[in-house]
Amino acid sequence: MNLAVRFGALELRNPVTVASGTFGYGREFAELVDLRALGAIITKTITRQPRQGNPQPRLAETAAGMLNAIGLQNEGLENFLREKWPQLREYGAPVIVSISAQDAADFAAMASTLEQAGVQAVELNLSCPNVAYAKLAAGAAVYAQIPEAVAEIVARVRQAVSLTIFAKLSPNVTDIVPIARAAETAGADALSLVNTVIGMAIDIDTWKPKVANVTGGLSGPAIKPIAVRMVHAAAKAVSIPVLGMGGIAATADAVEFLLAGATAISVGTANFVNPAVSMEILAGIEQYCLQRNFSDIRELIGKVRV
Ligand SMILES: Cc1cc2nc3c(=O)[nH]c(=O)nc-3n(C[C@H](O)[C@H](O)[C@H](O)COP(=O)(O)O)c2cc1C
Repeated sequence: MNLAVRFGALELRNPVTVASGTFGYGREFAELVDLRALGAIITKTITRQPRQGNPQPRLAETAAGMLNAIGLQNEGLENFLREKWPQLREYGAPVIVSISAQDAADFAAMASTLEQAGVQAVELNLSCPNVAYAKLAAGAAVYAQIPEAVAEIVARVRQAVSLTIFAKLSPNVTDIVPIARAAETAGADALSLVNTVIGMAIDIDTWKPKVANVTGGLSGPAIKPIAVRMVHAAAKAVSIPVLGMGGIAATADAVEFLLAGATAISVGTANFVNPAVSMEILAGIEQYCLQRNFSDIRELIGKVRV
């Protein structure tokens, strides 16, 4: 059974990865998950400078999901390279480093520093709903709502590095297709989608928003149909591979994304419920394929019968 898939120059031995911000830097899960067995580890998004993130409370449980407004809390690029990266690269799974920045030039400079340190792939977080970016046009909450911003950032990074570039897009748009195409045309090797759906929840005793940031990103099973719909639309529109995520909590969810056109999947919020769920999904996908006498995972990818 061949489960290997490829994103640009990055070869994954299977299509099961863990989503940015839900798996720390791997270390937190090392005793619970055979990290080598993962298709890839995607790190928490890092920024050039350390960030403390948004004020508390930053999490709220919702029906079939959760709202988060962490606000890209992280220790910064320098610290990542000194303290996290040496250990991460030892785990034996491909590592995709998620980055965010205030402008295209800094995205490119960060990617270049990471490439020099031996990083093989970056995920450009163009879609975090919980931070304010200086250079966005009025009315836009994330870069990934503006095709021109996506194109500019991806193109600058493409000029600066030859490593594999994932562009992480947002579900908070009317039509994902022009944005997916902008990322592809600018030189992205792959698309990651979706990030969280902007939402809000209110405590009816205090009359305050349940997260201090007022709005947060909705994740978990509640967003899966939205994500499947967007993965399907994007995968049809571009020829680069799509990494699909949003509400994957079991094998059946992962298979749905593969059928919709995702070349691989990321498990996010479900890691908080069951830290070993990615391994269970990997075993489940293999079994699903073996039961149907498939010899290659490609017999599944994009095969939805519309
Ligand atoms: C607590 C939390 C923190 C997250 N942090 C990040 C982040 O730093 N960078 C990023 O690109 N996505 C981040 N995400 C979004 C996830 O990577 C994923 O795109 C989203 O949650 C949808 O998948 P899920 O429903 O399986 O969680 C975060 C999600 C959660 C729940």
